[in-house]
Amino acid sequence: MSQLLSGKTAVITGSAQGIGLAIAERFVAEGARVVLADLNAEQVMAAAAGLGDDSVARGVACDVTSGDDVERLIASAVDAFGAVDVMVNNAGITRDATMRKMTEDQFDQVIAVHLKGTWHGTRTAAAHMRERRSGSIINLSSISGKVGLMGQTNYSAAKAGIVGLSKAAAKEVAYLGVRVNAIQPGLIRTAMTEAMPERIWEQKMTEIPMARAGEPSEIAGVATFLASDLSSYMTGTVLEVTGGRHM
Ligand code: NAI
Repeated sequence: MSQLLSGKTAVITGSAQGIGLAIAERFVAEGARVVLADLNAEQVMAAAAGLGDDSVARGVACDVTSGDDVERLIASAVDAFGAVDVMVNNAGITRDATMRKMTEDQFDQVIAVHLKGTWHGTRTAAAHMRERRSGSIINLSSISGKVGLMGQTNYSAAKAGIVGLSKAAAKEVAYLGVRVNAIQPGLIRTAMTEAMPERIWEQKMTEIPMARAGEPSEIAGVATFLASDLSSYMTGTVLEVTGGRHM
């Protein structure tokens, strides 16, 4: 069977678990070498070890809110595997609360991890990829950034910001052979969403035409498409992966 990512190296942030780990698993299955990066050092090392030996997967401790950390991450991937072909900016947190109750710190934390973290990852990967005249950057937005969700003024702002960031970056580096695209997942079954109260989960379910939550592997499939040459003429796009919710 032909593999979509053979010979490519990918860096995936926030990949100790959830969607990021599912993307790493699928990339490895498609022949890629992967560097998994996460705030949770112990968990990301174990996750990388679960994907294969050092010649296939490595774990790196990294806080995406730190530009220095992200530069070290890209440098270590280049050191280990020679180049970075694919960068997935996936690390994320939620600090949900209505505007009335949300603290300034909760707003700042979410903006720092998602928006600034994605900016660090996009610019650092692009600086490396432009020299090679090739690369695919994939940024995790959310359907929350398209429609705005109650209790998520911080998260919706960050995820909408990621769309603007991705499009602006796509325009800057398109002529250099570097593509930048975004994915907007809907309700995906991970630790992030399983923390939601049952009542909210049920209410979201009524909004989904396909009448089920998505699995992390279903985001990984779309990320694989964007990482591979199947999407070679796509940049600056936003792909909704929502089972039809908020189409
Ligand atoms: P998750 O909570 O299972 O995993 C997120 C990972 O990011 C964790 O391993 C965490 O340690 C890591 N992380 C957090 N802050 C970090 C930092 N500063 N630096 C490095 N790593 C950090 O979440 P999930 O569900 O897998 O989400 C992945 C991405 O997909 C996020 O960007 C999320 O906003 C987005 N998304 C998820 C949806 C869902 O329904 N699960 C829906 C729409 C978007």
